[in-house]
Amino acid sequence: MSRGVLSGIRERLAVHALEYPIPARANRWDFMLGALTLAALTVLGLTGIVLTQYYNPAPLGAHDSLRYIITELPVVTWLRDFHVWSASGAVMLVFAHLAAVFWRRGFRSPREVLWWSGVLLLAVLFGLAFTGTVLRADQEAVEALAHAVAGAQLAGPAGAPFRPDFTPSSPILTRMYGLHVSVLPLALVSILALHLWLIRHLGVSATGEARAAFLTHLRPLGGFVLVLVAAVAALSLAWPASLLQPGVEGFEVTKPFWAFLWIYAAENLFGMAGMLVAPSVLFGFLALVPLADRSEGLGARITRIAGVVLFSLMLAAIAYAALAPAQSHLDMPM
Ligand code: HEM
Repeated sequence: MSRGVLSGIRERLAVHALEYPIPARANRWDFMLGALTLAALTVLGLTGIVLTQYYNPAPLGAHDSLRYIITELPVVTWLRDFHVWSASGAVMLVFAHLAAVFWRRGFRSPREVLWWSGVLLLAVLFGLAFTGTVLRADQEAVEALAHAVAGAQLAGPAGAPFRPDFTPSSPILTRMYGLHVSVLPLALVSILALHLWLIRHLGVSATGEARAAFLTHLRPLGGFVLVLVAAVAALSLAWPASLLQPGVEGFEVTKPFWAFLWIYAAENLFGMAGMLVAPSVLFGFLALVPLADRSEGLGARITRIAGVVLFSLMLAAIAYAALAPAQSHLDMPM
């Protein structure tokens, strides 16, 4: 393509608008973790659209539709594996992003709302991971749903939509599908729009006077995104996602998706109350961070130590729950 045509396209797409200055130090990898999370979310969205063409959200058809994909449609099967691996990638990347932002105190004034919008994004991401697990309608899914229903009972009126008897006209699996493909993605996109708006207008917290054009940030980022997508695509080929036998209610024999193992560990230790206590501690702490660490001093030190302890506890709880034998939390046979 000639230079003239290229510059014509650049002009019509207003590419020059991407040349605004950003701190040169923001060109480091630890300032790219948020955008890499966004790349994983984009893959999730695209592969999810394909999966909705073949998935049946009716309780009696859900497991069969996945079995059909796995046995009859190799390309869609690979896209399903890609979807599942991208979900793991998005959760790992979002925590890496959160840890990096926490460590460099990117939540300090004027970025408090930017941080809180991130906390909401994390909650929505957990919601997507949970509803996605339930859609498999296999043994792990049925047990995850039974846990949610028990948690909803503990939560009182706020948990009503998660009870099977919330409405007689639509089964809970179908309602979970609605959450997974419409309510939660819409919430994610809306909150993400706020997150990105604030980043654009408040800038990131990288220090130093040196400036670089935002376009120079996009080039290395593009390289990282390609490597990430290729790695997840290769993992999906090498280790296909599992699908257990159709779920039977009343048994507890599986463990949840790894991203929920820290909650499972809390249930091992404190019973079903652990299911509400562990997320409340995590999200309560994250919500308080910008208020507790506003300037140098005791508050800043306590917040940093508490963050490191909490993060280490979460990792230890995930490792413990992965290695410990499966336990019953709902007094069901194992
Ligand atoms: C769906 C998940 C998320 C996406 C796609 C996302 C995206 C981004 C992007 C692209 C940036 C620009 C710079 C960078 O990558 O470091 C950023 C910055 C930031 N994000 Fe996120 N983010 C997400 C989740 C979170 C979470 C969970 C938190 C914290 C609880 C958070 C808090 C922040 C803050 C405070 C900044 C500014 C950092 C600074 O100025 O140092 N984000 N995010």
